[in-house]
Amino acid sequence: MASSSFTSKEITAINLILLISLTPILRIACESPSCERTFTSIISFGDSLADTGNKLHLSNTNNPPASASPPYGETYFKSPTGRCSDGRLIIDFIAQYLGVPLVPPYIGGKVANFGAGVNFAVAGATALDKPFFEERGVDIPVWNGSLGTQLSWFKDLLPSLCKTSSDYDELFERSLFLVGEIGGNDYNHALLAGVSMEVVETFVSPVVAAIVSTVNELLDLGARTLVVPGNFPIGCSAAYLTTFMTNSSTKDYDPQTGCLNWLNNFAMQHNTMLRTELARIQESHPHANIIYADYYNAAMQLFLNPYKFGFSKGAITACCGGKGPYHYNTSEMCGQPLATVCADSSQYVNWDGLHLTEAAYSFIFKALFQGPHTVPPFSSLCSAASHPQYDQ
Ligand SMILES: *[C@@H]1O[C@H](CO)[C@@H](O)[C@H](O)[C@H]1NC(C)=O
Ligand SMILES: *[C@@H]1O[C@H](CO)[C@@H](O)[C@H](O)[C@H]1NC(C)=O
Ligand SMILES: *[C@@H]1O[C@H](CO)[C@@H](O)[C@H](O)[C@H]1NC(C)=O
Repeated sequence: MASSSFTSKEITAINLILLISLTPILRIACESPSCERTFTSIISFGDSLADTGNKLHLSNTNNPPASASPPYGETYFKSPTGRCSDGRLIIDFIAQYLGVPLVPPYIGGKVANFGAGVNFAVAGATALDKPFFEERGVDIPVWNGSLGTQLSWFKDLLPSLCKTSSDYDELFERSLFLVGEIGGNDYNHALLAGVSMEVVETFVSPVVAAIVSTVNELLDLGARTLVVPGNFPIGCSAAYLTTFMTNSSTKDYDPQTGCLNWLNNFAMQHNTMLRTELARIQESHPHANIIYADYYNAAMQLFLNPYKFGFSKGAITACCGGKGPYHYNTSEMCGQPLATVCADSSQYVNWDGLHLTEAAYSFIFKALFQGPHTVPPFSSLCSAASHPQYDQ
């Protein structure tokens, strides 16, 4: 693994003085690596797991997405922002951890506000483009937000972000590129529409190839640090659990979590292939940091032990939704008039059947960026500066 060349620059004289004049208490604080000032910008691609408002701004005002209505956003922002959660997403916790502003959506945004990051992620976005699905008779929502489109938006924006070649170098050197999660919708749209698993399994290789191609293009442009997340355990999602509900005495379910094994196995299949490809890219780009974010295992801790981590209502029932065993119902979706919302979203892992609560995203963020679930550990990139300040 390449070491980052900029960490040493971050060790300021003040930190050196602290390091030698330390009291025991100060030493503990200094030994916690901080990512503040290591990165000055976040550039993000992906889907609803990272969308901070693009889908909302792309939508016709007569037909807004569910995330435009309360109770979306109720916990942190106090009103809907287009995020598919009650509050902050993993990308918001990353931004706060790095000490940069919450990453503004590209659509409807101003170049002047993109100095510390820009977000191209679009809720519902696929890794592959529409023709792939058309050729296979799979209907996907009609709008232009695929991973390839997102990358072309970035390339269009680049000249206005970087006026000089030193701006350009600075941008690529000091930006954290978040590439995903993406690909989940390529499977979701098909599986939830009834396409067989045999057919959907054939999507994995092209989906991973699309992600790899984006990572390679970003590296060619000059990206130094990329975080590439895998898929969540989709067999634990209330939407899938409702759609594929079967006689619970069958072996379809994991007895410990109540999740659907065949869907989780499928998510792992995607993740294994993605990790293999990322390792290959890392080998041929020793000066870049290509970091796999293991969303699956970070989240799986919550599904295995929700009560241990304070999620007293469990992990698979949605906080916001409609009638049904998992509080998920396609006729009464969160954000629609007939939906009901739980009293305290922090007791739930699942927010709306498809997405998680801010409380769950906060837990997963910590497991990834301050814990063991990125490969290599994210903290290894950060300077040993002051103790990180972030909001639980
Ligand atoms: C999407 O792409 C099509 C074809 O390129 C174009 O006609 C349409 O205007 C685009 N829609 C949006 C919302 O950008
Ligand atoms: C589930 O399957 C078992 C064994 O096949 C059967 O005995 C039971 O009645 C079924 N339960 C329901 C609710 O269908
Ligand atoms: C979903 O809600 C409709 C009413 O809006 C109801 O008829 C249906 O039974 C519900 N589905 C489930 C699985 O409970």
